[in-house]
Amino acid sequence: MGIRRKPNKTLSLKENEQTLHKNLKFTATEQYKLLRTNLSFTLSEKQGCAIIGVTSAMRGEGKSTTAVNLSYVLAESGKRVLLIDGDMRLPSVARKMRIDNSPGLTDLLKGEETIQMSIFKSPQLSNWYIMPSGDLPPNPSELLGSRRMEKSLEVLSENFDYIIIDLPPVNIVSDALTVSKFISGMIVVIREDYTEKKELETCFRQLKLSDVKVLGCVINESKNGKGSYGKYKYKRYYKYYKTYGNYDSAENEQG
Ligand SMILES: Nc1ncnc2c1ncn2[C@@H]1O[C@H](COP(=O)(O)OP(=O)(O)OP(=O)(O)O)[C@@H](O)[C@H]1O
Ligand SMILES: [Mg+2]
Repeated sequence: MGIRRKPNKTLSLKENEQTLHKNLKFTATEQYKLLRTNLSFTLSEKQGCAIIGVTSAMRGEGKSTTAVNLSYVLAESGKRVLLIDGDMRLPSVARKMRIDNSPGLTDLLKGEETIQMSIFKSPQLSNWYIMPSGDLPPNPSELLGSRRMEKSLEVLSENFDYIIIDLPPVNIVSDALTVSKFISGMIVVIREDYTEKKELETCFRQLKLSDVKVLGCVINESKNGKGSYGKYKYKRYYKYYKTYGNYDSAENEQG
């Protein structure tokens, strides 16, 4: 697939220290690698390209940070990875990556751009690609659940080993749920000492109602609240269902 190479600005290490894997603290880096390993066990190699959504209950829990860093460690292991910013309402991937936010997903879904023109090749790794969200459309939820979205993911799946989609929070808008029918599974980000238990219960109830396969949870915790990263933990979902959801264990064992 011929991907455009946009002349990216040189990444400033200072401005990107929260999302560039190589600038994270050792503990966080190791936890992302653990997340990568756990995902490879959770997902069957046979199923081809894995399409993974990243969501949470509320705003600001670390979805985009997780999506960027996860896609980075996957690419670092040699996989061909595409990171899509599916949060059309509050996109942040382009800002974190210091690239233009359009053209991107919305332009592709409106039929105004080709796949090739909607994707950036990252300057850090030759197998790490980014599709920004594009301009805010009037109907993000409909676009994400559209036949064109399904078709685009089908085509992209033939070219990538992993597609990571950064999504809006489940409790605020329906976008993550509408696109869930096209993906392999969802990672739920929980920010320690931030995510309310009842919000989390609502989030898992919504995911359950939409029949979404939850691959696992990432616990994003900031230890000192001064902007430095604490630990990232990845837990298999079944460790959480007792606390947060009404799921039967058989279902969660598959996860
Ligand atoms: N573990 C952490 N320690 C310190 N700061 C963090 C941590 N995780 C995320 N942040 C910061 O918190 C803010 C929100 O993170 P991020 O954008 O990843 O969240 P989000 O869930 O995608 O938010 P939104 O719902 O608005 O899309 C960002 O400024 C990010 O740099
Ligand atoms: Mg975000």
